[in-house]
Amino acid sequence: MSGAVVQVEDKLISWRRYLHQNPELSFEEIETSNFVYSELLSFGGLEITRPTKTSVMARLIGAQPGKVIAIRADMDALPIEEDNELEFKSKKTGVMHACGHDAHTAMLLGTAKILADMKESIKGEVRFIFQHAEELFPGGAQQMVDAGVMDNVDQIICTHVRSNMVTGQLGVLAGPVLASPDSFSIKVIGSGGHAAKPHQNIDSVIIAAQVVTNLQQIVSRYIDPIDDVVLSVTQIHGGTADNVTPGVVEISGTVRTFDQRLREEIPLEMERIVKGITEAHRAAYEIEYRNGYRPVINDEEVTEVVKNTVIDLYGADALDKIRRGMGGEDFSAYLQKAPGCFFYLGVGEENMEKNYPHHHPKFNVNEEALTIGVNVLLNVVQNLMTK
Ligand code: NI
Repeated sequence: MSGAVVQVEDKLISWRRYLHQNPELSFEEIETSNFVYSELLSFGGLEITRPTKTSVMARLIGAQPGKVIAIRADMDALPIEEDNELEFKSKKTGVMHACGHDAHTAMLLGTAKILADMKESIKGEVRFIFQHAEELFPGGAQQMVDAGVMDNVDQIICTHVRSNMVTGQLGVLAGPVLASPDSFSIKVIGSGGHAAKPHQNIDSVIIAAQVVTNLQQIVSRYIDPIDDVVLSVTQIHGGTADNVTPGVVEISGTVRTFDQRLREEIPLEMERIVKGITEAHRAAYEIEYRNGYRPVINDEEVTEVVKNTVIDLYGADALDKIRRGMGGEDFSAYLQKAPGCFFYLGVGEENMEKNYPHHHPKFNVNEEALTIGVNVLLNVVQNLMTK
C-alpha cells in the first residue's frame, strides 16, 4: 500500500466514526454535507460546489489536460435503531448508517485528500461526487446528474461495501450487476357486505387471492426462463372484521429485472391477468406500475481496468466470485451519462456468523477495509487516466 494511503488511515477512521455517530436520513444530509464540504476545503486545490442542498461535488483539475474521471460516494443513513455497542454508536434515535455509506464518504474524502496533494502531476480532472439520498426513491443520483455533475465526465466508478464478503476481498463484475427495482400497486374493487350472504357481494378477498397466485405465472410461464426476473407480492391489505366482506383489497409488491424490454412488457402482462380475473368475477381494478432506478450495468472496459488494478495490488485471490443481484442502486443514473463500474469492497469478518446483513440494526464495517478501498479507488483512477 502506498505511503500516502497509510498516512491517511487515522483520518479515514475518525471521519467514518464521526459520520457513523451523526447519521442523517435521505434528503436531510445537512450536517453531513457541511462536514464533507469543510473537510474538502481544508485539503486545498479543489473547486467545491453544492449541486443540490445536501450534496457536494469537488473538482480536482490537474495541471495538464486529460480525461475526466468521476468517483461517487453516497452519504445517507437509514431509519433503523442501531443495536451495536460501539463507542461511536449513532447518537440519533432511530437513525443509523446501516449500509456503510459512512465508510463510502470517508473513503472518498481520503481519496480526494491524497489526490489533491498530487495535483501538479495530474493529467485531466478527478471529480468527487458526494451524493445524497441513495436509499430513498427517486434518489439523489438523478438530481446530481440533472445538476450537471456528469457533464464532460469520461468514466465513473464507485465502490459499495459488502458485509458478507471478507475484508481484503473485492467483487468486480462486468455487465449487469444490480436490477431495476420497480414497484406496483393493485386495487381489486368488489362490493362488500355481510359475510353470511356471499352471493350478494363481490368478494374482493377471493378475487385478490387469485390475482396473487396468477401473477406468479408471469415469471414462470410468460417470460423466457433464461431471463432474470423477480415478481414478488409483498403486501395485501383488506378487511376490518370477521363477518364483513371487504369491498376493496389492495395488493402491492416489486418487480426486478435487468432488461428494459421486460420492464415494458411485464406491466402489460400484469394488467392482462388482473383485468381477466376481475372481469371474470364482476369486479373492477386499478393498477399502478412505478419504474424505480434503472439497472446497474457495468462497462466492460472500465471493469477490466478495475479488475486488473485489484489483481496488481492484491493478487487474483482478492477477487471474490460474485454474481449479479436483484437489489437496486441509483448509481445507474450516472451510467446513462458515461461508462463506469460499480464494485464491491469486502468489510466482513472471517467468521461469517459475525457479519450482519446490510440494513440490519447490528450491521458493521471492519475498518481495516477503509485503506484497501482508498488504495483501489486511487489506483483505478490513475490507471483510467493513463489508459
Ligand atoms: Ni447502500
